Amino acid sequence: MQEDLFKRLVSHCKEYGFIYPSSEVYDGLGGVYDYGPMGAELKNNIKEYWWKAIVQMHENIVGLDSAIFMHPKIWKASGHVDAFNDPLVDNKDSKKRYRADQLIEGEIDKLQKKIDKEVEKASKRFDNFDEAMFRSTNPRVVEWAQRADDIAKRLAKALSAGDMADLKAQIDELGIADPESGSRNWTEVRQFNLMFSTQMSNIAGDDGKLYLRPETAQGIFVNFLNVQKTTRQKVPFGIAQIGKAFRNEIVGRQFIFRMREFEQMEMQFFVRPGSEMEWYEYWKTKRMAWHQSVTPAAKLRFKPHEALAHYANAALDIEFEFPFGFKELEGIHSRTDFDLNSHQELSGRKLQYFDPELNENYVPYVVETSIGVDRMFLAVMTNALVEETVPDAQGEDSTRTVLRIPPALAPVKCAVLPIVRNKEELVEKARSIFDRLKPYFQCQYDEKDAIGRRYRRQDAVGTPYCITIDFETMEDDTVTIRERDSMKQERVPVAKVAEIVREKTDMHRLLASLT
Ligand code: GAP
Repeated sequence: MQEDLFKRLVSHCKEYGFIYPSSEVYDGLGGVYDYGPMGAELKNNIKEYWWKAIVQMHENIVGLDSAIFMHPKIWKASGHVDAFNDPLVDNKDSKKRYRADQLIEGEIDKLQKKIDKEVEKASKRFDNFDEAMFRSTNPRVVEWAQRADDIAKRLAKALSAGDMADLKAQIDELGIADPESGSRNWTEVRQFNLMFSTQMSNIAGDDGKLYLRPETAQGIFVNFLNVQKTTRQKVPFGIAQIGKAFRNEIVGRQFIFRMREFEQMEMQFFVRPGSEMEWYEYWKTKRMAWHQSVTPAAKLRFKPHEALAHYANAALDIEFEFPFGFKELEGIHSRTDFDLNSHQELSGRKLQYFDPELNENYVPYVVETSIGVDRMFLAVMTNALVEETVPDAQGEDSTRTVLRIPPALAPVKCAVLPIVRNKEELVEKARSIFDRLKPYFQCQYDEKDAIGRRYRRQDAVGTPYCITIDFETMEDDTVTIRERDSMKQERVPVAKVAEIVREKTDMHRLLASLT
């Protein structure tokens, strides 16, 4: 794990107003976070980029904003009431709760780390080191890899069969200890439902029991016919939605990676039965291209699911290399007609589409793309945070922390900085430039401290451009424009600043690169 990067990232997020722990004055609330001023801007930009790439760029995809509260039967039909569980195990000595599958996965990670260390050691020992050959022939590495594979397979089997007894047996056989206390005194493993519930005021008992939605997708399924009819879309077409989701995660982990309240960007693509694999491949490629437009390709990979959920006939994750390793960022699932069929059965209402070309009614199949806004936020920050050595004003080495966020996603596009603040006419001029730029994009005005420190402040929040107003500005109406990554400065006419910054930071460039 790149522990150092992860720690720096978490503290950078707090220090510069990206993310705060929720309810911090009361010592926080586990697995819940607040987005500060910079975080709110970045999060909005991520959502806007997804929305435009999905809805604006596809004439057969439309948006939706369904309510968080829905009829409780929806969660019965979707399978969440009966099967949206994680395996819970308590340590009797420390009283800590864990996910049994994560404890077992921890053993696989340990073996993986041992293998990586061995490979690294060998690569230093031999010239012309052939890593693939070493991995497939070194007896110790082969044995550890086999053991990791056996554990992963048995885990997947137990999870898909809901075999809690076998998960407990695995914990015992592997001798897994509580990571905090070292105790091996475990309870039995049992299913724990992840939905939060609350009660509607005017209905007593179970009928009034509402759930906070654990995914936004069901709001799309139950509105499928409303949307199709009111927009006259023809299959294949999609419905997209961004919104909050809630899961009572047993362990809220790794900062905003696993939260109890989070946000999803989901799209359900309704297709003719039998064509779903073609569309599954299509969305795989499309979504990977979206990610690669803002993330280096080497940090992304596809990971097919080991075991398919009961509703899916194909599923994979797009994984990103977080500081704690490759983990799920987005899921792409071919969900068959499971959800629409279940809602049809439980509600007694037809959820079918009349296909004019085939002259028949059918329940469409669905290919889903589902990504967590917060995980995408963490991925963008992981890619962006850089500490580098650069020359200061005197030509000496100095360290700067810079967020190399893609300009279209950056919270602030441009900062307006008068070179000094004690010259009234300079300040007035800078203010008037700031007022002219404000309507176009998010700008900041800053006159406090030496100019070098102000540049560093903007670098640390990822502002792509700084506009400096100096004495020359008063003579020829030009300013310097400084680019964040290269730190190069150029003199440009004031009249051109808005156009230059907009051209370089607007989302249309990214969107055009996707076609
Ligand atoms: N509708 C399908 C669905 O919800 P999922 O794989 O459970 O599928 C989709 O979730 C995405 O939501 C994940 O890929 C992840 O990015 C995000 N996500 C899921 N649980 C999360 C959590 N507890 N905290 C933050 N993001 C989460």
